[in-house]
Amino acid sequence: MSETGTCTLHLQAVAFVVLLLRLAPVTQASVQQLPGCPDKCGDINVPYPFGIGARCARDSGFELTCDQSYSSPRLLSRYGQHLVKLSLADGEAIALLNATRQCYNSTEDLVFVDSSTQNYMPLDGSTYRFSAARNRFVALGCPNLGYFVDSTGYYLSGCTSICRPVQSRTASSGGCTGEGCCQIKIPQNMDYYEQHILSFKPGQGDPIFQGDKTYCRYVFLADEKWIETTYRDRPDFNRTDDFTVHVVIDWAIRNVGNCNAAKLNKTADYACRYSHSDCVNSTNGAGYRCNCFDGYKGNPFPRRRMRR
Ligand SMILES: *[C@@H]1O[C@H](CO)[C@@H](O)[C@H](O)[C@H]1NC(C)=O
Ligand SMILES: *[C@@H]1O[C@H](CO)[C@@H](O)[C@H](O)[C@H]1NC(C)=O
Ligand SMILES: *[C@@H]1O[C@H](CO)[C@@H](O)[C@H](O)[C@H]1NC(C)=O
Ligand SMILES: *[C@@H]1O[C@H](CO)[C@@H](O)[C@H](O)[C@H]1NC(C)=O
Ligand SMILES: *[C@@H]1O[C@H](CO)[C@@H](O)[C@H](O)[C@H]1NC(C)=O
Repeated sequence: MSETGTCTLHLQAVAFVVLLLRLAPVTQASVQQLPGCPDKCGDINVPYPFGIGARCARDSGFELTCDQSYSSPRLLSRYGQHLVKLSLADGEAIALLNATRQCYNSTEDLVFVDSSTQNYMPLDGSTYRFSAARNRFVALGCPNLGYFVDSTGYYLSGCTSICRPVQSRTASSGGCTGEGCCQIKIPQNMDYYEQHILSFKPGQGDPIFQGDKTYCRYVFLADEKWIETTYRDRPDFNRTDDFTVHVVIDWAIRNVGNCNAAKLNKTADYACRYSHSDCVNSTNGAGYRCNCFDGYKGNPFPRRRMRR
């Protein structure tokens, strides 16, 4: 077999075959890339329909570059997102984002902004969306009104993190629930994200917002699981360092609305043509993906038919 687009029976799934497998091991190298195309960038697997370079990707939306100029090579999307994981089975990718940090002195004058940190992430709308199911927007430190905007610069959403005065502070139950840290869901179908911090000056706004404060305030978008594990037991709202978070991205073939439309639309180059595989609708934005049947493993995306 030298083609992608094959779902083979996953033998371990069938109990009695496991025995046979032990007696006579079968080589099961599953083909994840087109012939002559790299299937890794550093340690990161790059399965088709993704590809390093135009010739190897299904279409330009799935085109990646592997930047070798770093000590460990970086996998980059077309718009420069640093990707650390690609998954066919769940239609997800993980991208890195630096938290935006602003720090203030005792009179609440801005004294530090990390100008090297990019505060926006443009995704390729033809392929990627920010996962509304998996990501949360977070504003950390206080007082902090964190918000994010779309590519036209208009407000999308935000949340407010306030600290109670020291003398009234309750034993923190942990979690990112509004005191020192707030989090909110993001809208579906988002392919652009830009984070901002709005600071409060002493004397501004309602006195309820003038409790305790932290030296630095942050905003970022992150995998809910990362937030949960980081801020559950030992919430550190008063940090001053820079940090990088994992953002979950949903990808799909988006040239048609869903599986039904893809199957009907002969010109749309329907992908899920192989046996033992099925079409699944995108759950975030238009489009679809292919999946192997339960019990089958492999790469369900066949090489795109070349049109002349
Ligand atoms: C805070 O920073 C501002 C602007 O740099 C400065 O004018 C002010 O004196 C500083 N306040 C304190 C207490 O250092
Ligand atoms: C994130 O921070 C790291 C380390 O400071 C830096 O190398 C990288 O370029 C930053 N990335 C972005 C997108 O700002
Ligand atoms: C954050 O730390 C500073 C310095 O240790 C302290 O003065 C301040 O009260 C702390 N803020 C909160 C909200 O804990
Ligand atoms: C069929 O596919 C073409 C090419 O991708 C697209 O322009 C068109 O909108 C699709 N039609 C439907 C009904 O989805
Ligand atoms: C995909 O979505 C369409 C439109 O909502 C629906 O009719 C169809 O049954 C869905 N297909 C699958 C495979 O879930």
